Amino acid sequence: MKKLSALIVIVISCTAFIMVTDKFKEGDKPEFIEPSKQRTGDAVKGFDYLITGDYLKSGIPYSLFFMGLTKDTINFLQRSGNNKNIPYAFTAVKAPNGELVVAPNCLQCHAQVFDGKLIVGLGNSLSDYTINREGAALFAEKFLKNLTGENAKKYEAAKNFIRSIKAISPLLITSTKGVNLADALAALLVSHRNPQTLEWSETNLLTLPSEIIPTDVVAWWLLKKKNAMFYNGFGRGDFGRFLMASNLLTVTDTSEAKEVDSHFNDVLAYINSIQAPKFPKPVNESLAAEGKNIFSITCKKCHGTYGEGAIYPNLLIPENIIKTDSALYTSNYSNPQFVNWFNQSWFTSGDHPAKLVPYRGYIAPPLDGIWITAPYLHNGSVPDLETLLNSKKRPKYWQRNFTAPSYNYDIPGYNYETKNAPGNSEVYNTTLKGFSNEGHYFGDKLSDAERRSVIEYLKTL
Ligand code: HEC
Ligand code: HEC
Repeated sequence: MKKLSALIVIVISCTAFIMVTDKFKEGDKPEFIEPSKQRTGDAVKGFDYLITGDYLKSGIPYSLFFMGLTKDTINFLQRSGNNKNIPYAFTAVKAPNGELVVAPNCLQCHAQVFDGKLIVGLGNSLSDYTINREGAALFAEKFLKNLTGENAKKYEAAKNFIRSIKAISPLLITSTKGVNLADALAALLVSHRNPQTLEWSETNLLTLPSEIIPTDVVAWWLLKKKNAMFYNGFGRGDFGRFLMASNLLTVTDTSEAKEVDSHFNDVLAYINSIQAPKFPKPVNESLAAEGKNIFSITCKKCHGTYGEGAIYPNLLIPENIIKTDSALYTSNYSNPQFVNWFNQSWFTSGDHPAKLVPYRGYIAPPLDGIWITAPYLHNGSVPDLETLLNSKKRPKYWQRNFTAPSYNYDIPGYNYETKNAPGNSEVYNTTLKGFSNEGHYFGDKLSDAERRSVIEYLKTL
């Protein structure tokens, strides 16, 4: 019976594949991503671990934390105890020596306050990596090292965290607010670690790339449809293994990594349980219905269908078709040492291994909740859906407000001002390496009226 249903699944997914790929030209075929086996888990436990768990076991001593940050009185996550007054993107945890420390959590990058509500799983498009935090780390180190007696334990509990921040801060700086640099962060962290033992090395063991490639942050509610992780679809095998890679910031050894890993089946179950937020304003139903027809003809072969009987094709689209900025996937070929590190590391060991499989192109993402995930494309170079679907209108230099973000629900995306030249760190400069807004020209051939209706349909996904 089990075999039979597996067979049916294979037959169905193959038919879906043929259905979607037969509309591509010979030689321009996208690549279907095969599914890989995932661990099952408990979503409720996963959420609890995500917001209170000790996947980082080193951080800033609790008593010092509030010297730099004001107490959080909103408590979006309704946490209790030591976490009650801590901003949602941090968690109070016990270090192995028993000291209470505060460490960053996944919501640094994977949550955002939108219209006054915290949306867990929405990629944070307001983060600011334009500041060098090395000075703060050096200050904390000096202060903690001078503590004596019982208080010396505070330094011990913060040591792994501080050494990472010191090593990565001077190198992890972006020119623009709102873009993320997790890929560079991952590269830096692995460059300081032995691939098998995960032991820290003060010197870089790998040559670092000369520039930081900016990305947007993928929304969590899309993962349940995808057979591969990340924009370029290179995350294969056990997803939990990738999810726990943040642990590299402070991990001591593989026995700690193994313990942390044992919770990430639950975290994956939680991530897979998140639904995309619904569009909160009225939708013009007849316009959306027209848009659905156009979408079926122009977009479905890559982005799939939605609603009842939804089909997601799971396709990687090669560079000669997608034509968006190539810096993100090209770096896996020009700097293969990071992929090689991973593919020879502890992460590929055991009964649920993961591996990286580079590809020259990007995954065509599911579009659920697309109205809320501006800016668009993998590098966040396009401010709204209207300009995404009309490439001639995309601004070269554009500025949005990071202090009081303002959203346009009509053509969903951030309100922005077009600039004539690059400017301060709030101006997105599409002429920089990795920041280009080229490519994805599939909406260009639509008339203004057709584009309008496709946008109306996209609001319903
Ligand atoms: C410093 C920011 C940052 C932190 C912290 C972070 N992530 Fe991410 N995450 C990213 C970025 C950026 C991407 C997209 C990278 C890409 O696709 O190339 C991403 C991708 C993902 C994805 C992939 C989604 C998909 O559909 O491909 C998942 C799931 C995820 N992160 C989960 C987590 C979890 C769980 C944690 C905490 C243990 C975490 N992340 C911590 C920045 C971060
Ligand atoms: C040939 C395949 C293909 C076709 C056809 C296609 N897309 Fe895409 N689409 C992609 C890929 C691949 C990406 C990711 C590109 C990147 O981030 O660099 C993407 C990205 C997007 C995004 C941005 C996603 C995000 O989170 O930033 C939207 C919105 C979108 N497409 C809508 C559409 C619509 C609407 C149509 C039809 C008019 C369409 N696409 C046609 C492959 C396609």
